[in-house]
Amino acid sequence: MEVIIQPTADAAALLVARLIAKHLRAKPSLVLGLATGRTMERVYEYLTEMHRREKLDFSLCRTFNLDEYVGLPPNDPHSYRYYMDRHLFSRVNIDRRNTHLPNGAARDLAAECRHYEELIRDCGGIDLQLLGIGADGHIGFNEPLSALRSRTREKALTPATIRQNAPLFGGKISAVPRRALTMGVGTILEARRILMLVTGAEKATILAKAVEGPMTAMVTATALQLHPDCKVIVDEAAAKRLRGKAYYRWIFKNEPEWQEFRAAPSIRRARSRRSR
Ligand code: GLP
Repeated sequence: MEVIIQPTADAAALLVARLIAKHLRAKPSLVLGLATGRTMERVYEYLTEMHRREKLDFSLCRTFNLDEYVGLPPNDPHSYRYYMDRHLFSRVNIDRRNTHLPNGAARDLAAECRHYEELIRDCGGIDLQLLGIGADGHIGFNEPLSALRSRTREKALTPATIRQNAPLFGGKISAVPRRALTMGVGTILEARRILMLVTGAEKATILAKAVEGPMTAMVTATALQLHPDCKVIVDEAAAKRLRGKAYYRWIFKNEPEWQEFRAAPSIRRARSRRSR
């Protein structure tokens, strides 16, 4: 695992977008694992900008999202399918048939989860998986005590996660679905590369547990410590409680693989969306 500290949330999101763009240019048919949440919105804005200004090409890219709420049809404005359409798919030249999310409105949810795993396998596995982190340390919707070898399945959300996601449902806790379909921790760990983005002071404690704490199913993000190619990109606010900060900074300053990312980039997020 590598932790890279950036000065701001914006810079951290831009670095994640640049890393995704680099892999997409190297392999246009990249199988990209995608995540939702407020943290990811900036990444998708930057990818949209790169598509517009630098002709970043998504035409052959295939995507698999981590999760979806149970009971919400894809056209529900609170569904993750809707989120992805709004923040990325409708803004770049991706072929919608190449974009996949588990269907939370499927009649047989267990069959839907098995089918999702098969689809990932049929595409040759995920090349690069993007991740955020929940307040309780979940990745996808792998809530505390999810097996570290779990596969795509239906999962009950914790009251804390329901509260955390309520702002996206107009603040109405009762409107947040109680269950979700999510890739398992084992599914996520099979991705060839993992990129986790964590920003904001409110994530500082859970980030320190996830990255530097002992591995435990109580914090499913700790399973990422097992992954041979996992990069965790954070801002200063989220990095506040990390013990190894000096070393992480040294890595970014000195390791050759980061050289091209140390130079100031020219890309900016679209002005209209920056005011949020
Ligand atoms: C949800 C998603 C996670 C995401 C988390 C954090 O729980 N299932 O994949 O990482 O939200 O969201 P935010 O970025 O809004 O803090």
